[in-house]
Amino acid sequence: MAVREMFDSIAPRYDLLNRLLSAGRDIAWRRFAVKKLLTSRGGVYLDVATGTADVALEIVRQSPSCRVVGLDFAERMLDLAKNKTAGKPIDLVRSDALAMPFPDSTFHGSIVAYGVRNFPDRLQGLKEMARVVKPGGRVVVLEFSTPSGLLGDVYRLYFHHLLPRVGGLLSGNREAYSYLHHSVEAFSPPQTFCDMMVEAGLARIRSLPLTFGITMCYVGEKPWPIRT
Ligand SMILES: C[S@@+](CC[C@H](N)C(=O)[O-])C[C@H]1O[C@@H](n2cnc3c(N)ncnc32)[C@H](O)[C@@H]1O
Repeated sequence: MAVREMFDSIAPRYDLLNRLLSAGRDIAWRRFAVKKLLTSRGGVYLDVATGTADVALEIVRQSPSCRVVGLDFAERMLDLAKNKTAGKPIDLVRSDALAMPFPDSTFHGSIVAYGVRNFPDRLQGLKEMARVVKPGGRVVVLEFSTPSGLLGDVYRLYFHHLLPRVGGLLSGNREAYSYLHHSVEAFSPPQTFCDMMVEAGLARIRSLPLTFGITMCYVGEKPWPIRT
């Protein structure tokens, strides 16, 4: 099943499953990432792969004078986002993250939470996120990772066995939650991903582990052009 259809099919239960399967930690992870994103009181920020808009909502919660554009290609996810963001300074755009319909240097920062893993070309996605951000603005990526050691073993058991069953049962799409653990295992190790951010033209890269490294928050900055 293609990524867009998969997210459309799980959309109605997506928020509930996020809360349940992460034991509510996903709220804190998004809150942390948004704190790293915001560099100005006002401004316009881009939430790539916004899904049901939890990150976009967190941006305006932390900085009510900001405007946010939430971008996603899954129609049913965006329908839910539309209901949740009514009356907030959030615009929603349906588009592919790999070819965004914005001019260069439009936003004060861009963020993607749990979306980059699904991009068929991650480097291209990062390049787009960097392109549309103003110099000095941040590009923040929140993504799952696999912790090492004993905790990693316990976590893998949960991720391989329990999560696909519970996710499949409640969403009606077991394939989607099996895809989740396969895609997390196949995702680049933190150092490789940091190198990719550099290749995308970003500087001052940091990788910050959250909850024993179950999730990583990557932060980069778009450099100012060098004056000659
Ligand atoms: C796991 S959800 C994350 C949603 C949200 N950011 C969050 O924190 O809950 C991944 C989202 O990425 C979107 N997505 C995946 N690939 C995309 C692409 N190439 N272009 C636009 N959206 C994409 C999916 O439609 C889905 O809504």
